[in-house]
Amino acid sequence: MNSLEISVRRTLSPKALPSSETLGFGKYFTDHMFLASYSTKKGWYDARITPYEPLPLDPGAAVLHYGQALFEGMKAFRHEDGKCVLFRPEFNWQRMCEGAERLCMVAPPKELFIEGIKALIKVDEAWVPKEKGCSLYIRPTLIGTEGFLGVRPSDEYIFFTILSPVSSYFGGGAKPVKIWVEQDYTRACPGGLGSTKAAANYAGSLKAATEAKKKNYAQVLWLDIQREYVEEVGTMNVFFVFDNEIVTPSLEGTILGGGIRNSVIELLKSMNKPVVERKVKLQEIRDGAASGRLKEVFGTGTAAVISPVGELAAKDWNIVINNNEVGPVSKKLYDELTGIQSGQLPDSKNWLLKI
Ligand code: COI
Repeated sequence: MNSLEISVRRTLSPKALPSSETLGFGKYFTDHMFLASYSTKKGWYDARITPYEPLPLDPGAAVLHYGQALFEGMKAFRHEDGKCVLFRPEFNWQRMCEGAERLCMVAPPKELFIEGIKALIKVDEAWVPKEKGCSLYIRPTLIGTEGFLGVRPSDEYIFFTILSPVSSYFGGGAKPVKIWVEQDYTRACPGGLGSTKAAANYAGSLKAATEAKKKNYAQVLWLDIQREYVEEVGTMNVFFVFDNEIVTPSLEGTILGGGIRNSVIELLKSMNKPVVERKVKLQEIRDGAASGRLKEVFGTGTAAVISPVGELAAKDWNIVINNNEVGPVSKKLYDELTGIQSGQLPDSKNWLLKI
Protein backbone atom coordinates (compact mmCIF):
# COMPACT_ATOMS: atom_id res chain seq x y z
CA MET A 1 0.00 0.00 0.00
CA ASN A 2 1.67 3.22 -1.12
CA SER A 3 -0.23 6.06 0.48
CA LEU A 4 -2.91 5.22 2.95
CA GLU A 5 -6.33 5.78 1.48
CA ILE A 6 -9.20 4.68 3.64
CA SER A 7 -12.67 4.40 2.15
CA VAL A 8 -15.61 5.09 4.44
CA ARG A 9 -19.04 3.48 4.24
CA ARG A 10 -21.21 4.86 7.01
CA THR A 11 -23.95 3.01 8.80
CA LEU A 12 -27.53 3.82 7.84
CA SER A 13 -28.78 2.88 11.29
CA PRO A 14 -26.62 4.44 14.03
CA LYS A 15 -27.16 2.97 17.49
CA ALA A 16 -28.13 4.97 20.56
CA LEU A 17 -25.11 5.77 22.75
CA PRO A 18 -25.21 3.70 25.96
CA SER A 19 -25.26 5.62 29.22
CA SER A 20 -21.93 5.59 31.06
CA GLU A 21 -23.40 3.76 34.09
CA THR A 22 -24.26 0.71 32.03
CA LEU A 23 -20.97 0.40 30.14
CA GLY A 24 -19.09 -2.30 32.05
CA PHE A 25 -16.44 -3.95 29.87
CA GLY A 26 -16.80 -5.05 26.24
CA LYS A 27 -20.62 -5.13 26.13
CA TYR A 28 -21.21 -2.44 23.53
CA PHE A 29 -19.62 -1.90 20.13
CA THR A 30 -19.53 1.36 18.23
CA ASP A 31 -21.21 1.91 14.85
CA HIS A 32 -18.18 1.25 12.63
CA MET A 33 -15.08 -0.89 12.24
CA PHE A 34 -11.80 -0.61 10.35
CA LEU A 35 -10.52 -3.35 8.06
CA ALA A 36 -7.65 -3.95 5.67
CA SER A 37 -6.94 -7.06 3.62
CA TYR A 38 -3.68 -8.77 2.70
CA SER A 39 -2.71 -11.36 0.17
CA THR A 40 0.76 -12.52 -0.78
CA LYS A 41 0.03 -11.42 -4.35
CA LYS A 42 -1.36 -7.94 -3.60
CA GLY A 43 0.22 -7.03 -0.25
CA TRP A 44 -2.02 -4.85 1.96
CA TYR A 45 -5.04 -3.43 0.15
CA ASP A 46 -8.55 -2.06 0.59
CA ALA A 47 -8.22 -0.14 3.86
CA ARG A 48 -11.80 0.64 4.74
CA ILE A 49 -14.20 1.80 7.42
CA THR A 50 -17.55 0.04 7.28
CA PRO A 51 -20.56 -0.30 9.55
CA TYR A 52 -19.93 -2.72 12.45
CA GLU A 53 -21.15 -5.93 10.83
CA PRO A 54 -20.38 -9.67 10.53
CA LEU A 55 -17.21 -10.58 8.63
CA PRO A 56 -17.60 -12.63 5.47
CA LEU A 57 -15.28 -15.58 6.20
CA ASP A 58 -14.47 -18.73 4.23
CA PRO A 59 -15.41 -21.70 6.46
CA GLY A 60 -12.00 -23.14 5.57
CA ALA A 61 -10.18 -20.03 6.88
CA ALA A 62 -6.89 -20.65 8.69
CA VAL A 63 -8.11 -18.78 11.76
CA LEU A 64 -10.99 -21.20 12.25
CA HIS A 65 -8.94 -24.40 11.93
CA TYR A 66 -5.38 -23.65 12.93
CA GLY A 67 -5.91 -20.63 15.15
CA GLN A 68 -3.95 -17.95 13.32
CA ALA A 69 -5.38 -15.12 15.41
CA LEU A 70 -3.66 -12.32 17.28
CA PHE A 71 -5.18 -9.33 18.99
CA GLU A 72 -4.26 -6.20 20.90
CA GLY A 73 -5.93 -4.21 23.64
CA MET A 74 -5.55 -0.43 23.70
CA LYS A 75 -7.49 2.59 24.91
CA ALA A 76 -8.45 6.07 23.76
CA PHE A 77 -9.39 8.79 26.25
CA ARG A 78 -11.33 12.02 25.98
CA HIS A 79 -9.66 14.98 27.66
CA GLU A 80 -11.41 17.90 29.31
CA ASP A 81 -11.01 20.05 26.17
CA GLY A 82 -13.04 17.42 24.30
CA LYS A 83 -10.04 16.15 22.29
CA CYS A 84 -9.27 12.43 22.14
CA VAL A 85 -5.91 10.69 22.58
CA LEU A 86 -4.48 7.20 22.17
CA PHE A 87 -2.26 5.68 24.88
CA ARG A 88 1.02 4.22 23.51
CA PRO A 89 -0.30 2.86 20.20
CA GLU A 90 3.22 2.13 18.91
CA PHE A 91 3.75 -0.30 21.77
CA ASN A 92 0.74 -2.33 20.62
CA TRP A 93 1.78 -2.23 16.97
CA GLN A 94 5.26 -3.45 17.90
CA ARG A 95 3.82 -6.29 19.96
CA MET A 96 1.48 -7.31 17.13
CA CYS A 97 4.53 -7.44 14.82
CA GLU A 98 6.37 -9.70 17.26
CA GLY A 99 3.35 -11.98 17.68
CA ALA A 100 2.82 -12.13 13.91
CA GLU A 101 6.41 -13.25 13.49
CA ARG A 102 5.88 -16.07 16.00
CA LEU A 103 2.60 -17.20 14.39
CA CYS A 104 3.95 -16.89 10.81
CA MET A 105 1.41 -14.16 10.04
CA VAL A 106 1.85 -10.84 8.22
CA ALA A 107 1.47 -7.83 10.52
CA PRO A 108 -0.01 -4.57 9.22
CA PRO A 109 2.58 -1.81 8.65
CA LYS A 110 2.73 0.85 11.38
CA GLU A 111 0.97 3.51 9.31
CA LEU A 112 -1.91 1.18 8.49
CA PHE A 113 -2.28 0.14 12.14
CA ILE A 114 -2.13 3.61 13.67
CA GLU A 115 -3.79 5.70 10.94
CA GLY A 116 -6.53 3.10 10.53
CA ILE A 117 -7.34 3.23 14.23
CA LYS A 118 -7.22 7.04 14.30
CA ALA A 119 -9.53 7.30 11.27
CA LEU A 120 -11.99 4.85 12.84
CA ILE A 121 -12.08 6.75 16.12
CA LYS A 122 -12.67 10.00 14.23
CA VAL A 123 -15.73 8.45 12.57
CA ASP A 124 -17.03 7.08 15.90
CA GLU A 125 -15.75 9.97 18.03
CA ALA A 126 -19.08 10.51 19.76
CA TRP A 127 -18.58 7.07 21.36
CA VAL A 128 -15.46 8.09 23.32
CA PRO A 129 -16.89 8.55 26.82
CA LYS A 130 -16.13 11.73 28.74
CA GLU A 131 -17.02 10.47 32.21
CA LYS A 132 -14.21 9.88 34.74
CA GLY A 133 -12.88 6.32 34.70
CA CYS A 134 -14.44 5.60 31.29
CA SER A 135 -12.59 5.17 28.00
CA LEU A 136 -12.84 3.67 24.54
CA TYR A 137 -11.35 0.15 24.49
CA ILE A 138 -9.77 -0.66 21.12
CA ARG A 139 -9.41 -4.20 19.85
CA PRO A 140 -7.08 -4.48 16.82
CA THR A 141 -7.17 -8.07 15.51
CA LEU A 142 -5.25 -10.01 12.87
CA ILE A 143 -6.60 -13.27 11.43
CA GLY A 144 -5.58 -15.73 8.73
CA THR A 145 -8.43 -15.87 6.20
CA GLU A 146 -7.25 -18.15 3.42
CA GLY A 147 -9.56 -21.13 2.88
CA PHE A 148 -7.15 -24.05 2.72
CA LEU A 149 -6.86 -27.10 4.96
CA GLY A 150 -3.19 -27.88 4.51
CA VAL A 151 -1.33 -26.98 7.67
CA ARG A 152 0.83 -23.99 6.71
CA PRO A 153 0.69 -20.23 7.26
CA SER A 154 -2.24 -18.52 5.53
CA ASP A 155 -1.51 -16.52 2.37
CA GLU A 156 -4.37 -14.11 3.18
CA TYR A 157 -5.09 -11.97 6.25
CA ILE A 158 -7.57 -9.45 7.51
CA PHE A 159 -6.53 -6.81 10.01
CA PHE A 160 -9.60 -5.32 11.66
CA THR A 161 -10.31 -3.05 14.61
CA ILE A 162 -13.46 -2.76 16.66
CA LEU A 163 -14.21 -0.31 19.46
CA SER A 164 -16.05 -0.64 22.75
CA PRO A 165 -16.82 2.15 25.22
CA VAL A 166 -15.96 0.88 28.71
CA SER A 167 -16.04 1.85 32.35
CA SER A 168 -13.69 0.16 34.79
CA TYR A 169 -12.99 -3.51 34.04
CA PHE A 170 -14.01 -4.76 37.46
CA GLY A 171 -17.57 -3.89 38.36
CA GLY A 172 -16.70 -3.13 41.98
CA GLY A 173 -13.95 -0.58 41.15
CA ALA A 174 -10.43 -1.06 42.49
CA LYS A 175 -11.45 -3.35 45.37
CA PRO A 176 -8.74 -5.97 45.99
CA VAL A 177 -9.56 -9.29 44.34
CA LYS A 178 -9.23 -12.86 45.59
CA ILE A 179 -6.95 -14.98 43.44
CA TRP A 180 -6.65 -18.76 43.17
CA VAL A 181 -3.07 -20.06 42.88
CA GLU A 182 -3.39 -22.41 39.91
CA GLN A 183 -1.36 -25.58 40.39
CA ASP A 184 -3.11 -27.87 37.90
CA TYR A 185 -3.39 -25.91 34.64
CA THR A 186 -0.60 -23.80 33.15
CA ARG A 187 -0.87 -20.89 30.74
CA ALA A 188 2.35 -21.22 28.79
CA CYS A 189 5.48 -23.32 28.39
CA PRO A 190 9.03 -22.48 27.31
CA GLY A 191 9.18 -22.22 23.53
CA GLY A 192 5.39 -21.79 23.31
CA LEU A 193 3.13 -18.79 22.74
CA GLY A 194 3.17 -17.23 26.21
CA SER A 195 4.81 -13.98 25.11
CA THR A 196 2.37 -13.40 22.23
CA LYS A 197 -1.15 -12.03 22.45
CA ALA A 198 -2.44 -15.06 20.57
CA ALA A 199 -6.15 -15.76 20.86
CA ALA A 200 -5.15 -19.36 21.63
CA ASN A 201 -3.64 -18.31 24.97
CA TYR A 202 -7.00 -17.01 26.09
CA ALA A 203 -8.82 -20.14 24.94
CA GLY A 204 -6.36 -22.17 26.99
CA SER A 205 -6.94 -20.02 30.08
CA LEU A 206 -10.73 -20.31 30.25
CA LYS A 207 -10.94 -23.64 32.09
CA ALA A 208 -8.77 -22.51 35.00
CA ALA A 209 -10.56 -19.15 35.23
CA THR A 210 -13.98 -20.82 35.15
CA GLU A 211 -13.05 -23.27 37.91
CA ALA A 212 -11.58 -20.44 40.00
CA LYS A 213 -14.76 -18.39 39.60
CA LYS A 214 -16.83 -21.37 40.80
CA LYS A 215 -14.73 -21.30 43.96
CA ASN A 216 -15.44 -17.56 44.25
CA TYR A 217 -12.05 -16.31 43.11
CA ALA A 218 -11.82 -13.51 40.54
CA GLN A 219 -8.94 -15.07 38.59
CA VAL A 220 -5.93 -17.35 38.86
CA LEU A 221 -2.25 -16.83 39.57
CA TRP A 222 -0.38 -18.60 36.77
CA LEU A 223 2.78 -20.52 37.64
CA ASP A 224 5.55 -21.87 35.43
CA ILE A 225 5.48 -25.49 34.26
CA GLN A 226 7.41 -26.67 37.36
CA ARG A 227 4.80 -24.85 39.51
CA GLU A 228 7.65 -23.07 41.24
CA TYR A 229 7.77 -19.54 39.81
CA VAL A 230 5.01 -16.97 39.45
CA GLU A 231 4.19 -15.75 35.91
CA GLU A 232 0.95 -13.77 35.51
CA VAL A 233 -2.36 -13.07 37.23
CA GLY A 234 -5.45 -13.76 35.13
CA THR A 235 -4.94 -11.79 31.88
CA MET A 236 -2.54 -9.41 33.59
CA ASN A 237 1.09 -9.03 34.59
CA VAL A 238 1.77 -9.22 38.30
CA PHE A 239 3.81 -7.08 40.71
CA PHE A 240 4.87 -7.75 44.31
CA VAL A 241 5.83 -4.99 46.74
CA PHE A 242 8.35 -6.20 49.30
CA ASP A 243 9.92 -4.07 52.04
CA ASN A 244 12.84 -2.94 49.92
CA GLU A 245 11.93 -3.74 46.32
CA ILE A 246 9.05 -3.89 43.88
CA VAL A 247 9.32 -7.03 41.80
CA THR A 248 7.71 -8.31 38.62
CA PRO A 249 8.57 -11.58 36.85
CA SER A 250 11.17 -11.06 34.12
CA LEU A 251 10.10 -11.63 30.51
CA GLU A 252 11.72 -14.91 29.53
CA GLY A 253 9.38 -16.12 26.81
CA THR A 254 6.39 -17.43 28.74
CA ILE A 255 5.02 -14.07 29.93
CA LEU A 256 3.18 -11.46 27.84
CA GLY A 257 4.98 -8.12 28.15
CA GLY A 258 2.09 -5.74 28.83
CA GLY A 259 1.97 -2.05 27.99
CA ILE A 260 0.86 -1.17 31.51
CA ARG A 261 3.61 -3.44 32.94
CA ASN A 262 6.15 -1.48 30.91
CA SER A 263 4.60 1.86 31.91
CA VAL A 264 4.56 0.92 35.60
CA ILE A 265 8.26 0.01 35.48
CA GLU A 266 9.06 3.34 33.80
CA LEU A 267 6.98 5.33 36.29
CA LEU A 268 8.53 3.56 39.29
CA LYS A 269 12.02 4.26 37.95
CA SER A 270 11.16 7.95 37.56
CA MET A 271 9.94 7.97 41.16
CA ASN A 272 13.28 6.43 42.23
CA LYS A 273 11.51 3.36 43.56
CA PRO A 274 13.55 0.14 43.53
CA VAL A 275 11.80 -1.85 40.78
CA VAL A 276 13.30 -5.16 39.67
CA GLU A 277 12.45 -7.62 36.89
CA ARG A 278 13.50 -11.09 38.00
CA LYS A 279 12.20 -14.60 38.57
CA VAL A 280 9.84 -14.77 41.58
CA LYS A 281 9.33 -18.01 43.48
CA LEU A 282 5.89 -18.77 44.87
CA GLN A 283 7.68 -19.75 48.09
CA GLU A 284 9.14 -16.23 48.31
CA ILE A 285 5.61 -14.81 48.28
CA ARG A 286 4.49 -17.19 51.02
CA ASP A 287 7.61 -16.45 53.11
CA GLY A 288 7.12 -12.72 52.53
CA ALA A 289 3.54 -12.93 53.76
CA ALA A 290 4.63 -14.91 56.85
CA SER A 291 7.46 -12.50 57.74
CA GLY A 292 5.52 -9.33 56.91
CA ARG A 293 7.99 -8.44 54.11
CA LEU A 294 5.26 -8.70 51.46
CA LYS A 295 3.29 -5.44 51.47
CA GLU A 296 1.24 -5.43 48.26
CA VAL A 297 0.38 -7.51 45.22
CA PHE A 298 -1.26 -6.09 42.11
CA GLY A 299 -1.99 -6.94 38.49
CA THR A 300 -1.42 -4.57 35.58
CA GLY A 301 -3.31 -4.56 32.28
CA THR A 302 -4.90 -2.25 29.75
CA ALA A 303 -8.43 -3.15 30.76
CA ALA A 304 -8.15 -2.82 34.55
CA VAL A 305 -4.99 -0.62 34.69
CA ILE A 306 -4.03 -1.61 38.26
CA SER A 307 -5.87 -4.39 40.05
CA PRO A 308 -4.88 -4.91 43.70
CA VAL A 309 -4.87 -8.48 45.03
CA GLY A 310 -6.25 -8.94 48.54
CA GLU A 311 -5.89 -12.67 48.93
CA LEU A 312 -3.98 -15.58 47.39
CA ALA A 313 -5.32 -19.05 48.06
CA ALA A 314 -4.23 -22.56 47.07
CA LYS A 315 -5.47 -26.04 47.97
CA ASP A 316 -3.98 -26.07 51.44
CA TRP A 317 -3.03 -22.49 52.30
CA ASN A 318 -4.04 -18.89 51.87
CA ILE A 319 -2.56 -15.49 52.58
CA VAL A 320 -4.26 -12.13 53.02
CA ILE A 321 -2.33 -9.18 51.62
CA ASN A 322 -2.30 -5.69 53.16
CA ASN A 323 -5.33 -6.54 55.24
CA ASN A 324 -7.33 -6.84 52.01
CA GLU A 325 -7.00 -3.12 51.36
CA VAL A 326 -5.63 -1.13 48.43
CA GLY A 327 -1.99 -0.34 49.28
CA PRO A 328 -0.14 2.97 48.73
CA VAL A 329 1.97 1.77 45.78
CA SER A 330 -1.07 0.40 43.90
CA LYS A 331 -2.99 3.60 44.61
CA LYS A 332 -0.15 5.89 43.53
CA LEU A 333 0.40 3.97 40.28
CA TYR A 334 -3.32 3.89 39.49
CA ASP A 335 -3.59 7.65 40.08
CA GLU A 336 -0.47 8.42 38.01
CA LEU A 337 -1.45 6.24 35.06
CA THR A 338 -5.09 7.25 34.92
CA GLY A 339 -4.03 10.88 35.52
CA ILE A 340 -1.73 10.81 32.48
CA GLN A 341 -4.28 8.96 30.36
CA SER A 342 -7.10 11.35 31.18
CA GLY A 343 -4.97 14.48 30.77
CA GLN A 344 -5.24 15.45 34.44
CA LEU A 345 -1.47 14.99 34.86
CA PRO A 346 1.25 16.07 32.42
CA ASP A 347 2.20 13.52 29.76
CA SER A 348 5.83 13.57 30.92
CA LYS A 349 6.70 10.34 29.09
CA ASN A 350 5.15 11.36 25.78
CA TRP A 351 2.79 8.39 25.85
CA LEU A 352 -0.26 10.12 24.36
CA LEU A 353 -0.94 10.46 20.64
CA LYS A 354 -3.55 13.02 19.57
CA ILE A 355 -6.23 11.65 17.31
C1 COI B 1 -5.91 -6.55 29.64
O1 COI B 1 -5.71 -6.66 30.82
O2 COI B 1 -5.85 -5.49 29.07
C2 COI B 1 -6.23 -7.73 28.88
O3 COI B 1 -5.45 -8.20 28.11
C3 COI B 1 -7.55 -8.28 29.13
C4 COI B 1 -8.35 -8.43 27.92
C5 COI B 1 -8.06 -9.74 27.27
C6 COI B 1 -9.81 -8.27 28.24
